[in-house]
Amino acid sequence: KTNESSNTNNKYEEIISNLPQDNGWKPFGKLYNYQGFWYAPSLLQNVISAQQSFTPQPKDFILCSSPKSGTAWLKALTFSIVSRNQVDDSTNPLLKKLPHEIVPFMEIELAQNSSNRNLDIPFVATHIPYTSMPKSIIDSDCKIIYISRDPKDVLISHWIFDIKVSGIGLESFPLEEALEQYCKGVYPFGPYWDHVLGFWKASLEFPEKVLFVKYEDLKTDGPFHVTRMAKFMGHPFSVEEKQQGVPEKIVNMCSFENLSSLEVNKNGKYNLPDLPTVENKSFFRKGKAGDWKNHLTNEKAEKLDQIMKEKFSGSGLV
Ligand code: A3P
Repeated sequence: KTNESSNTNNKYEEIISNLPQDNGWKPFGKLYNYQGFWYAPSLLQNVISAQQSFTPQPKDFILCSSPKSGTAWLKALTFSIVSRNQVDDSTNPLLKKLPHEIVPFMEIELAQNSSNRNLDIPFVATHIPYTSMPKSIIDSDCKIIYISRDPKDVLISHWIFDIKVSGIGLESFPLEEALEQYCKGVYPFGPYWDHVLGFWKASLEFPEKVLFVKYEDLKTDGPFHVTRMAKFMGHPFSVEEKQQGVPEKIVNMCSFENLSSLEVNKNGKYNLPDLPTVENKSFFRKGKAGDWKNHLTNEKAEKLDQIMKEKFSGSGLV
């Protein structure tokens, strides 16, 4: 490390050490509450660094989500929309790369250097909540697309993914415990309701800047919502494209069935600096709406639904 970067790290460590802490989300050890959201310390350094120095390209699309809400899917769909005239069915990079390798994360690959990416690809992803987003993005003309998902499915997806990646074992972090933490909002980038509400409210206030998409809507009517996304992004489908079924082709290309069956997503690995190596297949588990039914009793599901109902009440979000 250079002196400068270790000074910067020390500065962040000092900020972080004074924040509220909680060690209830076991796979990640201690989490810190910064600006109302919970973070693992190493990632929090990156978040603060991104807040201070991240600079988007003027035409970037910022893809936002809470972890396990469909981030990789959103990356695949939006990339396919924008690049549809540059790539065809055989040259689409999605056939050879994990969506996360095509679109980097602001608080991971780009935290120290905004340009550490292929600048021809106008996408940056982030799990940073709206209220903590770098000012450079809010002040820019960059458009934001947010994907939300049924919190019950997010919980199950998150719990299983974190146990796998951390290697702590199911018995060390039973679902009951995960549910309890989730209901308190204590897990990386939680609370979920505040994450969703930040973007939801922004989408109502600034509809030209922020588009709010639901995972379940994409599942039930992909072509309609892909068309809506394309229009919002300034890449609308022409009448001919619609007649040729281009929205449907994009939906099929990016479907869970297609992406999860590709060699790269079955056997590839995702390596990032300072993070554990993750098998690409971990990002493609079930890909369904409602898999929570296989894990949560009705009573537990209702508890979670009730919390969300209270938190979302009056927002217009159901
Ligand atoms: P499950 O664990 O419920 O299967 P993220 O990309 O934000 O990490 O979210 C991961 C979740 O999205 C996982 O949910 C994963 O299976 C699902 N997913 C990944 N690719 C998908 C796709 N193309 N279509 C639908 N769901 C997808």
